[in-house]
Amino acid sequence: MGEVIFHIRRYQPGKDAEPHYQEFRVPLTPGLTVLDGLWHIKETQDPTLAWRFSCRMGICGSCGMLINGRARLACNTQIAELGAGRVCVAPLPNFEIIRDLVPDLQPMFRTHKELMPYIIREDGLTDSAQGEFIQTQEDLERYLQFSYCIKCGCCMAACPTVASDREYAGPMPLAQAHRYNQDNRDKGFSERKKVLGGGRGPWRCHYAGECSRVCPKGVDPARAIQLMKRELFLDVLRLRRAHRESPCAGKPTDARRREGIPEAPKPTVG
Ligand code: FES
Repeated sequence: MGEVIFHIRRYQPGKDAEPHYQEFRVPLTPGLTVLDGLWHIKETQDPTLAWRFSCRMGICGSCGMLINGRARLACNTQIAELGAGRVCVAPLPNFEIIRDLVPDLQPMFRTHKELMPYIIREDGLTDSAQGEFIQTQEDLERYLQFSYCIKCGCCMAACPTVASDREYAGPMPLAQAHRYNQDNRDKGFSERKKVLGGGRGPWRCHYAGECSRVCPKGVDPARAIQLMKRELFLDVLRLRRAHRESPCAGKPTDARRREGIPEAPKPTVG
């Protein structure tokens, strides 16, 4: 059984003056992931090593880090696929570092929240358990691939514009704003446009495409951003066409009673 050498960027605020690299040796076993290697180091060599993780299966988006120069998920990266006996691990660039491999993702999530990543409508239909919106396959495909985002921050770490312009909203929040703008249950375009149309929005993207290249879920934020530019431009020219509205099959209970519409049948079990 061979071994793999981990070079890990360490930094503990209040203890280290500067970040530095530390070397660890880990036995190489079949299927060993970078996350497994970090656990081995923590359990057998240095319990102070810090990183973030949760699901271990590429779902939660917690374990994004820079692995051999590329932003990836540690749980989803096998040592064998890196094709090298050495693994260099550092925290995601373009974020402040809290400790070792733990980036501060708060600025990204603040912008995400600012762009209202949820369905906006004033008729209250989405608040009702009775409401069910009917979407066609075509309606769904307009936003489906952007909804696979797990908010790991890998796209933000790879983006050269985020690296040089801290005002730029960045690929994750913008792609998620586009996801909701494309959903024909949503009516929030004019609200989101207040942020998107300003200096922090998609116009700052230089279309390097790195965000889409590194996304571990195959989302294409670069495409979302270019489509968003088109929508905003058409909107300025008053040529933007609203999507066909998604019809609601049900209405809130009170409204149904008022209009004498019978309740939807309860689902039968078994
Ligand atoms: Fe959840 Fe890696 S631990 S994505």
